[in-house]
Amino acid sequence: MARITGTYDRKTVGGEEIAAFIPHALPPADPPLQLDTQAHERLRAAEHALSRLELAGQMVPSVEWFIYAFVRKEAVISSQIEGTQATLVDLLTYEAGAQTEPAAEVEVQEVCNYVEALAFARKQLSRKNGLPLSVRLLNETHHRLMKGVRGAEKQPGEIRSSQNWIGGTRPGNAVYVPPPPYEVPRLLGELEQYLHAEDALPPLVRAGLAHVQFETVHPYLDGNGRLGRLLVTLLLEEWRQLSQPLLYLSLFFKRHREDYYRILNRVRTEGDWEEWTAFFLEGVGTIAEEAVQSARDLFALVSRDRARVLAAGKATVVASRLFEELPRHPVVTITGAVKLLGTTKPTAAKAIALLEKAGVLAETTGRRRDRTFSYAKYLDRLRVGTELE
Ligand SMILES: Nc1ncnc2c1ncn2[C@@H]1O[C@H](COP(=O)(O)OP(=O)(O)O)[C@@H](O)[C@H]1O
Ligand SMILES: [Mg+2]
Repeated sequence: MARITGTYDRKTVGGEEIAAFIPHALPPADPPLQLDTQAHERLRAAEHALSRLELAGQMVPSVEWFIYAFVRKEAVISSQIEGTQATLVDLLTYEAGAQTEPAAEVEVQEVCNYVEALAFARKQLSRKNGLPLSVRLLNETHHRLMKGVRGAEKQPGEIRSSQNWIGGTRPGNAVYVPPPPYEVPRLLGELEQYLHAEDALPPLVRAGLAHVQFETVHPYLDGNGRLGRLLVTLLLEEWRQLSQPLLYLSLFFKRHREDYYRILNRVRTEGDWEEWTAFFLEGVGTIAEEAVQSARDLFALVSRDRARVLAAGKATVVASRLFEELPRHPVVTITGAVKLLGTTKPTAAKAIALLEKAGVLAETTGRRRDRTFSYAKYLDRLRVGTELE
């Protein structure tokens, strides 16, 4: 499908031509987006998988379990796509207040920022007086995403005021040169308008288009990939495709990163919005199916282990209570357990020992002090796809 999706702003810098791309506003036009039979099938499959994921969330006593787990999975993977060297286990260990590898700490902080940024944006959107879907919401979310050591010089929360580029060492040899800085506010304004406009296209498709447009504008000095993927999560919720952030779509982009970048590029060079839409819908369908399966596995595991804990003779009430906390705290320390349970240290230690004996918790550090325990079977299932390459 050949269509023109924007214009180039050309200038010569140091004897080299730089062609910065200025995308046309959404939706695709001349011709409008073509959804053929196959695209409609993909769309139906993706929608169906999302509704199954929605139901899976309702199967457990508290959907918070899966929100906790899957949001972190998404956070880790989305950060990994552009090189953050932290794993899900690093993140959970850090959150448990346990010692992490010093080298991992900065990396983990980036992932924590992602979790916080998402929570912030969701809260704004769910509140009556909160920020609506807007450039301002994106800026404030970006601020939270990028604050701290490594992002500090990357102007957290601020639209860029200089030319950036993707791939290569300078604009002159880049794979892609986003719009010049003075065009960015207008382009973001147009994107914001599109998010609130009436459009006959299905919401899922529109969420995919919005992601590409955001990446094409590349409004910040850094963090565009993460914020653009976070935007998809927000749109799915805002547009009632999924009432909780349970879809870790970044896993699909991580798995097919070359295609992801290539297809983003082709939207600009060939005007191929159809290819992107097919890719995006397939991603949503695939990951939603996988998340349903994962939710089921995790639920079955917890049910089996609960029975074992209860059967384990001297199971105390405190041990059962600790067990019920594990899906939201799959890594715990004794100090952490004291806080979770509101008991004394000996009682918490005893609860941990009981869960260890029941084969639920396992000590992971081999240390005598600051020992860290994890619900290993749970983590093994959850962390599929989150390994570093
Ligand atoms: N050719 C391209 N055209 C548009 N966007 C691209 C292209 N290649 C990669 N991207 C997007 O740019 C992101 C990287 O931008 P960056 O600002 O470094 O984000 P982050 O720091 O969050 O990874 C990628 O994750 C991808 O979403
Ligand atoms: Mg980056």
